[in-house]
Amino acid sequence: MIHSKNPNMIMKKVYSLLLACLLAAGSATAGEGMWLLNKLKQVNEAQMRELGFKLTAEDVYSLNHASMKDAVARLGSGFCSGELVSADGLMLTNHHCGYSAIQSLSTVKDDILTNGFWAMTRDQEKPAGFSVSFLQYITEVTDTVRAALTAEMTEAQRDSVISEIGDRLASQATAGNPHLDANFKSMFEGNEFYLFVYKVYPDVRLVGTPPNAIGKFGGDTDNWQWPRHTGDFSMFRVYAGPDGEPANYSTDNVPLKPKSHFPVSLDGVKKGDFSMIMGFPGSTERFLNSDGVKLALDVEQPSRVKIRGEKLAIMKKHMNADDAVRLKYAAKYAQVANYWKYFIGQQKGLKRQHVFDRKKAQEDDLMAWVNADPARKLKYGGIREDLAKGYAERARYEKASTYMQEAAFGSGVVMAGFRLYGLMMQLEKDPKNEQRITAMADQARGAMRGIWADYDPATDQEVTAGMFKLIAQDVDPAQQPDVVHTVNKKYKGDFSKWAEALFKTSILTDTTRLMAFLAKPQLKVLQKDMGMQAMQSSLGLYRNVLGPAISDAQTEIDKGYRLMEAAMMEKDPQKMWYPDANSTERLTYGIVNDYKPADAVHYDYFTTELGILQKEDPSNDEFIVPARQKELLLAKDFGRYADEDGSLHINFISENDITGGNSGSPVINGNGELIGIAFDGNWEAMSGDISYEPELQRTISVDIRYVLWVIDKFAGAKHLVDEMTLVKTPKAAPAPVEAVPATPAPAVKKPVRKG
Ligand code: ARG
Repeated sequence: MIHSKNPNMIMKKVYSLLLACLLAAGSATAGEGMWLLNKLKQVNEAQMRELGFKLTAEDVYSLNHASMKDAVARLGSGFCSGELVSADGLMLTNHHCGYSAIQSLSTVKDDILTNGFWAMTRDQEKPAGFSVSFLQYITEVTDTVRAALTAEMTEAQRDSVISEIGDRLASQATAGNPHLDANFKSMFEGNEFYLFVYKVYPDVRLVGTPPNAIGKFGGDTDNWQWPRHTGDFSMFRVYAGPDGEPANYSTDNVPLKPKSHFPVSLDGVKKGDFSMIMGFPGSTERFLNSDGVKLALDVEQPSRVKIRGEKLAIMKKHMNADDAVRLKYAAKYAQVANYWKYFIGQQKGLKRQHVFDRKKAQEDDLMAWVNADPARKLKYGGIREDLAKGYAERARYEKASTYMQEAAFGSGVVMAGFRLYGLMMQLEKDPKNEQRITAMADQARGAMRGIWADYDPATDQEVTAGMFKLIAQDVDPAQQPDVVHTVNKKYKGDFSKWAEALFKTSILTDTTRLMAFLAKPQLKVLQKDMGMQAMQSSLGLYRNVLGPAISDAQTEIDKGYRLMEAAMMEKDPQKMWYPDANSTERLTYGIVNDYKPADAVHYDYFTTELGILQKEDPSNDEFIVPARQKELLLAKDFGRYADEDGSLHINFISENDITGGNSGSPVINGNGELIGIAFDGNWEAMSGDISYEPELQRTISVDIRYVLWVIDKFAGAKHLVDEMTLVKTPKAAPAPVEAVPATPAPAVKKPVRKG
């Protein structure tokens, strides 16, 4: 018993001790966790402040006044993130996020992908072709959903009740406002439910991009890797109608006057500094169990790597041979390559980090706890069996299904055929409805124009042959699409011959043939079309056989995870739990930190211009340093963007927890100022989406001072830097020589995020 005269003091001590334990128990490292913005106050604020955050949860996410959430953009429906940096809607994101837009705006004659582009006046800004949205609010609706569920419901009944409620809540939230988008989301695998409401701005314009040699410096060699020297940023502007509300592109539109934008810090970062990142992580599988890890390692990942490797080799060959093809396939190639390397790294990481064994040990631990109590056993006793059974079932279809997604639908002509599928169904079921057929033909024309904007039939012919050949070689014949059997019979298994015939005749590979068909759409033309046949047999297999089988297995798996996650949270209620990423806005916080990738190896936490010069290789297009950049770097012409140490800092790393979708996210210091743009993860922690690795996992960001240097010094677009709110903490005043009363250093004027 503790005795004291002042029970209040004791309570305070006990409380602070408890808090300390809580924080310690909370997570092995502060860096882990993708936190919900509406829970920051309750869950994270204390720990954030301990790590160096000087503001409050209310400054991050507020329903009452302007807050950081108003300055964080979701690109499209979440392919990337971005941040507003001026009162006139200027937005930064990654170069690889703007890549597709930049490619679409490039031609062989005016190749802005290669050369870069900067709008010197606003009328030079170019329509980007994607929308951005800003979070309005988050509402937890777990109670509403739970009230409608009963213990007797089957999984299917449960799912349908939940999706009904979700649809209703979403449509209520957007009723009467066409600019709102509401997403109903399940968290912790069906244990909690939230509604996210966004305002969508369709008019976004490209303001500037560095040349590919800066924006993608290091290419695929350096991708997913530290130390890094990439200027991975591009710049856009969000436009609104004259009334400030979202509006489709129009020359009458005006730059958005946002509620809030990030001030930009010139101070740079030091090891141990607080850093936080807000954005839209797409998906993680942190709760994946040992069966799931095994299936991924045995089947899914090696399949994806193999198929993508094959596709990349074919694309590369054609891109190298023809400049127009290089441009057309740039974004497609980058996309395939990015996750090709990702899956290679993830397999290695899962093995090296012994993730399977660790997951298994966690499961043993959980089940021991479950089985120690009859009531718990009744509720959770079936978790392991549900998961094991579900995965065993799914394993029977996993390979075929992965090959359908990656290989069959990895062919451009199959994807194109899919866009005509609706029209085909219409012609089959209701051929008399001419109005509808004309409308669908118009739609198809538009879709095909989009596809052909970056399409090369010769490349796709070889890709298509290669992809279906792989299916024939690797997939169980009983689970192959019919078209493979046809090739085996009619073309003696020669997939090149088959593809040649297909590309010579299909309406999906030639404008004249397509236009003739669309002018007078006839079902039998589609039925005889070899491209449509390839698509239909792949789609049929997927829709009628693989899809339903996998979805049955998945129902069992989902139930297992729902109960497993509930049990885990019940077992460790003091732990700070965060839900898997699911394309909803999150915050991650931690500190700037170096790491040791291997025995005797130490990686520093920042890179400088020296690394760019060291990596330069004029014979390798991934490591070209533009002449002007080289000249400025050698002259050390860094101006106010130099670090205290005199060098130009290029990239830095921090203990933050991000994943795909977070690309382009603002990296923010303890004062709420922008210090970088997050763009990648590191090779040693590629298993991180499945299991966070505190000692190894880092976020790679481009130092905001390098971004400003490129815009100002390299590109000569200082007017854009001038639009931003720059902040620099003045150096401490030198000690006064005489014993006069020291004038206090001028107070740093804290920039007000515009309200
Ligand atoms: N790995 C990065 C991500 O997924 C993309 C980096 C793009 N750069 C590249 N060289 N492919 O966010």
